[in-house]
Amino acid sequence: MRIAVVGTGYVGLVAGACFADTGNTVVCVDIDQKKTDALKRGEIPIFEPGLETLVKRGAAEGRLTFTTSYKDAIPQSDIIFLAVGTPPLPSGEPDLSYLKAASEEIGRHMNGYKIIVNKSTVPIGSHRVVADWIAPHTSHSYNVASNPEFLKEGTAVDDFLKPDRVVVGTDNQEVYAQLADLYSPFVRQGNPVIWMDPVSAEITKYACNSFLATRISFMNELAVLCEKVGGDIEEVRRGMSTDERIGRHFLYAGVGYGGSCFPKDVQALMSTARKEQVPMGIVAAAEAANARQKRHMVNQIKAHFGQNLQGKTFGVWGLAFKPNTDDMRDAPAITIITELAAAGAKLQAFDPVAMENAKKYLGDKTVYSKGAYEALEGCDALLLVTEWNEFKHVDFERIKTLLKKPLIFDGRNIYNSATLAEKGFSYYGVGRPSL
Ligand SMILES: NC(=O)c1ccc[n+]([C@@H]2O[C@H](COP(=O)([O-])OP(=O)(O)OC[C@H]3O[C@@H](n4cnc5c(N)ncnc54)[C@H](O)[C@@H]3O)[C@@H](O)[C@H]2O)c1
Repeated sequence: MRIAVVGTGYVGLVAGACFADTGNTVVCVDIDQKKTDALKRGEIPIFEPGLETLVKRGAAEGRLTFTTSYKDAIPQSDIIFLAVGTPPLPSGEPDLSYLKAASEEIGRHMNGYKIIVNKSTVPIGSHRVVADWIAPHTSHSYNVASNPEFLKEGTAVDDFLKPDRVVVGTDNQEVYAQLADLYSPFVRQGNPVIWMDPVSAEITKYACNSFLATRISFMNELAVLCEKVGGDIEEVRRGMSTDERIGRHFLYAGVGYGGSCFPKDVQALMSTARKEQVPMGIVAAAEAANARQKRHMVNQIKAHFGQNLQGKTFGVWGLAFKPNTDDMRDAPAITIITELAAAGAKLQAFDPVAMENAKKYLGDKTVYSKGAYEALEGCDALLLVTEWNEFKHVDFERIKTLLKKPLIFDGRNIYNSATLAEKGFSYYGVGRPSL
């Protein structure tokens, strides 16, 4: 098939590379000239395991190309995916200006019937809005379908190649058949391509992210209760997750959820609910709990050292909102570092891949260290914020020699508190007894 993907970010680039890998001819369009030039040179602008190999293979075999020109991309394509950003406005509603601009450009350059597939996460009813934006710019016919994306940063390529399911929202049987065919190589093991109406597809995306965010916030609230009453959230989690009705995923207490999707999608759902005057108190509570949780480690630190942190230095391990990504959007590390710096503390941070992106969000609020151990030199405590694998089995004896006193704030409960106690560390986890 001949495909265009508009927007080459975390979603568009992965989708384009994966579609090209199954033999399709894919052209990726982006307005970012620098990014497009880098991609043409074979440089991958984001960190995503497995992506570079796919992009290089697709480019080398001539099936994957990059351009900033809609004129080059749209006429040669039958199916056009929209994967531009929909970041939140201060009101919580998604900013649809990128989607509008892209839709209008598609309309201007259509040379015949096209299937336009919205992969961006958009407010409910947006398939109609996109169709309306295109209409004044073309006399050709087209269909707009909704195909929300469920990949997770850090495992995006794997998720795209082996999705739990693919959701296709369209009222048109032929459009469904074409998209089901396009996705068929990825669902050979029998995972479903679920056909539904476009509104339900748009709701499904917000429902999944808001539900997952709610699970996390529920566990974070329980964790705070555990701290008060002397329980251990890790034990509670084990007890809960073995209940088949509950399952094992998204039950980890921590420093709060972040990233480019959960916070924005929860807010967008709340904003639609407000507009429609439908009470959605559960997601609103999940959002409020998350805002509190992002400050939890700061509260623990202030309870330990006092409100004024002048003269204190903290080594921060992990900045990205989760491991295996360089994405810093809405990362809890931003709140933690900003608040500690405001209280007078000095920060020395290390992240295996997110340091360059982190500089855009944190500037000089922290020093950026060359390595994990360097970040701890002369510090009053280690703050574990993102659970990268390389932080899991570490040399605690070396850490002891680097810190002023052996003290760890573990925002992801990755360390065994009993082992740390034996080694002479003081330890704060999330929802666990502190030592
Ligand atoms: N990142 C994720 O994990 C994820 C997962 C599922 C769904 N989504 C959704 O997918 C969409 C894209 O997310 P992302 O993280 O890939 O965004 P991103 O910010 O990484 O990438 C968006 C890209 O779109 C480009 N762009 C903006 N306006 C354009 C235009 N008019 N024409 C062409 N290109 C344009 C930008 O230059 C950028 O490269 C969002 O709606 C997001 O909510 C994201």
